[in-house]
Amino acid sequence: MIPQSFVQELLSRVDIVDVIERHLPLKKSGANYFACCPFHGEKSASFSVSPSKQFYHCFGCGAHGSAIGFLMEHNGLGFVDAVKELAGQVGLQVPDDGHHASPAETDARERLYEAMAAAARFYKEQLRHGPAAVAYLKRREVSGEIAARFGLGFAPDEWQALQRVFPDYQAKTLAEAGLVIDNDQGRRYDRFRNRIVFPIHDRRGRIIAFGGRVMDGGEPKYLNSPETPLFEKGRELYGLFLAQKAIRDAGHVVVVEGYMDVVALAQFGVANAVATLGTATTPQHVLALLRQTDRIVFCFDGDAAGRRAAWRALENALEALRDDATLAFLFLPAEHDPDSFVRAEGAEAFRKAAAGATSLANFLIQELSARHALDTAEGRAGLVHEARPLVTRIGAPLLRLQVMKMLAEASELTQTEIEDALGLRQSRAVRKAPPHQEGWRPPAGNFTPRRAPVRGGRRKPPSAIESLLRLVLTHTALAARLPVGLIPDDSAEGRALIAIIDMLSLGEPVPAGGLGALIERFRDTPHGEPLSRIAAELVDAEFDEAVIEPLFEDILRKLQIDHVSAELAELMQRSRENGLDNRGRHRMAELLVEKSKLSSAAKGSDL
Ligand code: UTP
Ligand code: MN
Repeated sequence: MIPQSFVQELLSRVDIVDVIERHLPLKKSGANYFACCPFHGEKSASFSVSPSKQFYHCFGCGAHGSAIGFLMEHNGLGFVDAVKELAGQVGLQVPDDGHHASPAETDARERLYEAMAAAARFYKEQLRHGPAAVAYLKRREVSGEIAARFGLGFAPDEWQALQRVFPDYQAKTLAEAGLVIDNDQGRRYDRFRNRIVFPIHDRRGRIIAFGGRVMDGGEPKYLNSPETPLFEKGRELYGLFLAQKAIRDAGHVVVVEGYMDVVALAQFGVANAVATLGTATTPQHVLALLRQTDRIVFCFDGDAAGRRAAWRALENALEALRDDATLAFLFLPAEHDPDSFVRAEGAEAFRKAAAGATSLANFLIQELSARHALDTAEGRAGLVHEARPLVTRIGAPLLRLQVMKMLAEASELTQTEIEDALGLRQSRAVRKAPPHQEGWRPPAGNFTPRRAPVRGGRRKPPSAIESLLRLVLTHTALAARLPVGLIPDDSAEGRALIAIIDMLSLGEPVPAGGLGALIERFRDTPHGEPLSRIAAELVDAEFDEAVIEPLFEDILRKLQIDHVSAELAELMQRSRENGLDNRGRHRMAELLVEKSKLSSAAKGSDL
């Protein structure tokens, strides 16, 4: 965990324009900088960076965020790595919540990387002296070019070949790196012997592990490095480093099961493939991939084992799902794996198959439906029963809704019955439009984004709370004047606003790194999404400062009227049911006076 105070300090020191300019040329126009968006193919420059707000936004594809968010998305980094990279650029040391990597620890890690790199060079070199290995690769029709691209090598058929690279063969580092094995008798020998070696790179291209394939029918067919300080199987994907650009170009990633599948696909021109490393697809895999692309196609063999593996991938992906991403499953004909398929049918056939892959929702319903006799009541009940724990885990609300619809159809229940059965009934408060949205239009005045986001077509007029949130995000001082009790908490924007007011009233300073820093302050909270959505709309907004104060007062008055009206409505209800006592009548009169005052002030102020 990186302390929030450090993130704030960091963002107050970096300039998002510098950060982004390292990766793409920016052109200044007005207050902002523009470029062609690196996240979707385009010719016009709809990617805009605001130095005053320290935030970027693409009007074409909707990508947006802070300097940290940019590095995460652009370089495919996790939050921690993005913070580290940014800190490195301005010479700050990232505190590690009590755990500081000591120079000794850093050295130890560096030594592990060095050992892996040296071993990889050796294995590669050995390929030239290993005719059997070359013959094997030839037999499998791996081109020399592709073998070089993937850094394939050969571990000779000797017990201690690595001694030639590491004169200090007994060094602790070699065992820690997983390159050697110490047996019970205290004898040390090479882990990889007489195998074709596939180096495994991390996302920055450093070698962190190896996979080794036997060349005959020996067992195990593939031997992988053990988990080491550099290598955590459930996190890494074979081929990801090399595939990054192709994934961006293709707009999707293909996930396969085998090393040879990745290599063969690349050789035939499908370079956007990666493989899990002898493990099922993990949630971490899915999250890492969704940082690079918004479409994942899982490719499995068409046999029963392939369907089982696909199902596990589905289960592990549910929480990571997003409404703006698609996951799909491609089942190859039973006799094929991706390697043999692309060789037999060619890249175009593979791409076509990937484009037509079964969507996650369809696979889920198909698979569950196949397990139950849907022509019986028991079967349909069983279907819903089995679906329940899966559907509730779907992290994407709109997709979850779609799946519930499909489930309703398959089980012959109504939408409402399904919602009840799954315990996913939305509360009525959430479902009906909050009362303050009805009939209210923001006063005229230049306070809406200059360009409406392209996505989603025509926009609804913003609610009072949305407008207020915009105001507060650009003029933070206004937050101090907002009575928290007036803000309805029945919308995400309202709750975000309340969170900001709370933050300030607890004495936390206004983030110094602009809007970007404020967004980072709420990362991983429920407010992160609504805040960054509004911030994105603001990147290119121009404000008429003269309108800010009257607009703020107008919204405030509107909220007061809502508040008074709500209390009035409650009193009226009570009066109809049980009559009112003196105090009640008095209060009602007070409220009526207040409401008429507020209303006439509101009319007078019409902008
Ligand atoms: P497969 O047995 O499907 O092999 O294992 P493959 O990829 O088609 O390999 P070739 O074509 O026979 O050379 C799929 C993946 O499962 C892991 C490896 O990552 C392999 O690529 N695996 C398999 C192991 O880790 N160990 C094994 O013994 C077998
Ligand atoms: Mn194979």
